[in-house]
Amino acid sequence: MNARRAVRWTLQHGLARRVLTRAARQGDPQALLIMDADTRAHPYALHDTVRAAGPLLRGRLSWVSTNHAACKEVLRSDDFRTGPPETPLSGLVARLAEWSAGQHVLHPVEPPSLLAVDGEQHARYRRLVSRVFSARAVEALRGDVTHTAGRLLDELAASTTSEVDLVERYATLLPLTVISDILGVPEADRPQVLTFGAGAAPSLDVGLSWSEFSHVDTSLRAFDAWLGTHLQRLRENPGTDLLSQLVVATDDGRRLSEDELRATAGLLLAAGFETTVNLIGSGTELLLRHPDQLARLRAEPERWGNAVEEVLRHESPVQVTARVAVRDTSVQGVAVRKGHLVATMLAGANRDPAVFTDPHVFDVDRANAREHLSFSAGRHFCLGAALARIEGEVGLRALFERFPDLALAPGAQRRPTRVLRGWERLPVRLGTLVG
Ligand code: HEM
Repeated sequence: MNARRAVRWTLQHGLARRVLTRAARQGDPQALLIMDADTRAHPYALHDTVRAAGPLLRGRLSWVSTNHAACKEVLRSDDFRTGPPETPLSGLVARLAEWSAGQHVLHPVEPPSLLAVDGEQHARYRRLVSRVFSARAVEALRGDVTHTAGRLLDELAASTTSEVDLVERYATLLPLTVISDILGVPEADRPQVLTFGAGAAPSLDVGLSWSEFSHVDTSLRAFDAWLGTHLQRLRENPGTDLLSQLVVATDDGRRLSEDELRATAGLLLAAGFETTVNLIGSGTELLLRHPDQLARLRAEPERWGNAVEEVLRHESPVQVTARVAVRDTSVQGVAVRKGHLVATMLAGANRDPAVFTDPHVFDVDRANAREHLSFSAGRHFCLGAALARIEGEVGLRALFERFPDLALAPGAQRRPTRVLRGWERLPVRLGTLVG
């Protein structure tokens, strides 16, 4: 066992795991949502219980909220920041933490990731990449997304088996191909990138077991090394892709450092497919379980855009994010002390009856579906939202038009991740083919 890694696991996950295991036994809602697979599979009743207790509830690790107004207030407030909570480590533990950190490796929720920095540093990174992901720039990619979806569906149609895993064959490949094209990832490297992404996905979670943590750590290191090689290749042979532009882009005359480049490129690439796969997987499963809703979309295809918002609301691909109070403050009248952490349960906020009538009902015609918080809110609002919306709309519509008899087959399996929610495997029967 690598000693540095073991100490890191103990400090970052092992201790929290012990506390959470005990708290889950005592019925603490936050601990149950993190530690209990059955609760995670059906979290919505517990979200309702948390909401009934008030805008914020004190969980074992942090404040928790499933109240829409409270979550939105926290996410938009200058009284809160992203990044890890301050842990006032004592002398020996602080030295152990420093020693175990070793050489810096990219991590999606540690600086200099966009997700973990604020203020001018965040604004600078965001300015550099946001032009490419503006709603207008992304709308111009609709044709490319349609083309990619069509090609993947052709491959599905050519399958020798009538039953396939939709996640493996379509829901993952569509966003992976689109973001890889945008970022100039060569075709030959894409299977490898997929493996890094899957291995690193639990890095967003707390309370990982030793083996989960080891796998995540190995995947992040391999991903980091690959990014270094990829960026070097683009420096030597620049293309027209976003990363080639980012390598030489300046803001106030300054380029991104190697660390900043790897963090930004890694986040764009991983966030580009690890989240959207869940939108397409959950959307497929929900529509196949609600044929009346699917029939409405077939009759009036212009409703597809709203249907995607409703899928995002009903099954938030990112279940939760968190913020730390930078000063003593209050949220919807509840006092929060400086340094305290608030877990904003986006999935719970999306089912707040104060905002959404009959929130547990899946309704593609819901007029205010777009008020969901699945893309967060405030300064860190998802940079890829416009792209994800197009991928969801084009991807789901093309799938159901090409395979009108598509049906669920036995063997569906949820992803084990806590923050990301979606299907690991979604076997479907393809049925008759159109076109
Ligand atoms: C259905 C698909 C997606 C969902 C549900 C989603 C969700 C989110 C959420 C909740 C956040 C903010 C987290 C926070 O506030 O702490 C976020 C941020 C981000 N997302 Fe997405 N995302 C999706 C697709 C994408 C895509 C396709 C890309 C890449 C092109 C992307 C790139 C990013 C980036 C770079 C950030 C960081 C923004 C910042 O911190 O300023 N996302 N996403």
